[in-house]
Amino acid sequence: MRLTTFAGLFCGLLAAVAVIGVAMREQRPVPVPAATPPTTWPDYSPQGPGFQPPHGERGPLIAYGYEIVTRTFATIGPEGTDPKMRFAGNNLACQSCHLDAGTNRFALPLVGVFKTYPKYSARNQRTISLEERIEECMTRSMNGRPLPGHSREMTALLDYLRHIGDPPAAPPLPEPQAPPLPPDAGRGAVVYTTICAACHQTDGLGRRLGSVDDARGYVFPPLWGPDSFNDGAGMDRYQHIVPFVRTNMPRGVDPQHPQLTLQQAWDVSAYVIAQPRPKYGR
Ligand code: HEC
Ligand code: HEC
Repeated sequence: MRLTTFAGLFCGLLAAVAVIGVAMREQRPVPVPAATPPTTWPDYSPQGPGFQPPHGERGPLIAYGYEIVTRTFATIGPEGTDPKMRFAGNNLACQSCHLDAGTNRFALPLVGVFKTYPKYSARNQRTISLEERIEECMTRSMNGRPLPGHSREMTALLDYLRHIGDPPAAPPLPEPQAPPLPPDAGRGAVVYTTICAACHQTDGLGRRLGSVDDARGYVFPPLWGPDSFNDGAGMDRYQHIVPFVRTNMPRGVDPQHPQLTLQQAWDVSAYVIAQPRPKYGR
């Protein structure tokens, strides 16, 4: 009895709200619910539930931020149709390194990072903002120029990072363990040829999805050469490339059960670091 009365009342209320809603729509915008960020660690990998554009006023901007992270080459890349929008200097995507749109725990995760800024930066020897940190990846990893501070693109990136910023950030990975033998690019070349070249190609220049100048990016991104990260990038340092390659390459490997030995990871990193790439600041 009580339940049906309640249900009746509830339906009546809903109907009333709907009527008022329709009436009010003419005068002012319908209030939209806030975009609800994921409270548990999100999974935007191809195997996961994927990214859903959140409801709410900020939804479209967050979705644009996701688009920039996953399709950087198409949104702010050097081959975009509008020259004013060419900020990145190469055709990588943020998620070439921050795998799965920054939701992969083992590959430079961006989940939870929003709340850790402003943060002390050893590189700058001062506290920097999240915006400044993004610009560092723009000018080093992406070998490009900074995004204007108040641009829609920077706002979208910050909104996306805020959106996935709720769960606590993953603890920083420990510095890579020293290899049994000093890293050797010669041995690394063998690792490269037998394991990496299948995807990143023998010349290290990667494999495009389409053709040069179509702004569609890579199936397998370049590891060196003119369209790669520059020599000021974190990925050009053992500290970052060794753990990244060890746990994530070949792409698809289970990070808990790496395919490469520690020695192979150091050796192949030595080989990659020794290859030509753009110079930072030029
Ligand atoms: C070539 C690889 C690469 C690419 C591409 C790349 N990054 Fe990074 N990014 C890194 C590395 C390496 C770090 C350093 C991680 C650290 O300091 O522990 C980093 C750090 C960051 C951080 C700070 C994370 C933290 O925990 O403090 C942010 C934010 C970031 N990147 C955003 C971006 C955005 C946005 C893009 C695309 C416009 C991008 N990155 C492209 C390699 C890359
Ligand atoms: C099965 C194909 C495959 C193999 C084999 C592979 N990779 Fe990758 N690698 C990828 C893909 C794909 C990405 C980009 C990730 C994405 O877009 O999700 C990537 C990204 C990278 C990146 C960061 C992005 C960049 O362009 O710099 C590095 C560094 C890297 N791989 C190194 C290696 C090394 C070293 C090996 C050999 C030990 C290797 N990879 C083997 C597919 C592969």
